[in-house]
Amino acid sequence: MSEHLTVVDHPLVQHKLTLMRDKGASSAEFRQLLHEITLLLAYEITREMPMTTRAIETPMEEMDAPILAGKKLALVSILRAGNGMLDGVLELVPSARVGFVGLYRDEETLKPVQYYFKVPEGLNNRLVIVVDPMLATGNSSAAAIDLLKQAGATDIRFLCLLAAPEGVERMKEAHPDVPIVTASIDRELNSKGYILPGLGDAGDRMFGTK
Ligand code: URA
Repeated sequence: MSEHLTVVDHPLVQHKLTLMRDKGASSAEFRQLLHEITLLLAYEITREMPMTTRAIETPMEEMDAPILAGKKLALVSILRAGNGMLDGVLELVPSARVGFVGLYRDEETLKPVQYYFKVPEGLNNRLVIVVDPMLATGNSSAAAIDLLKQAGATDIRFLCLLAAPEGVERMKEAHPDVPIVTASIDRELNSKGYILPGLGDAGDRMFGTK
């Protein structure tokens, strides 16, 4: 993708996002809306996938028809909230391999620490789409992408639902080669690293925890 940041302002995305932000939405509604928005965002992030042509015959005549060139795709979820976006992308690209990165924040150093890392082989030959609904400080996203680059990934895109300006800046600094697709850039982070106006804790809202 050529743009570093794409905000998908499609009316359906914005409408569904408003329903998700509303604190009255149930966990079931929240998950369903996240799934639906992910389909629409995935449509955008898969733009500019390499294409080729295949010779086919329609009932009318022969043609060279456009088809994906078959670059393999790896989808990587940043635990745990990223899991809410997996099915949406897999519905569009069912053959994608799936990986998981788990990070927690060390309370003393405030740095992200890895507790789980399992990704498909051959990341160097794959388009890697990292999913996490909330790009807040950007620290865990940047750290996850560091790990993926160490594992060989060179063609990475980041898909999120909401982003804070601080997180976008952090990512631009750390990984200017990684395009970001999101449904909204919100106003700011609060002192605890939550996005404002945001939608609260995405994992808690998705899974009904607190
Ligand atoms: N993670 C969340 O789930 N929500 C935020 O607002 C920030 C980070």
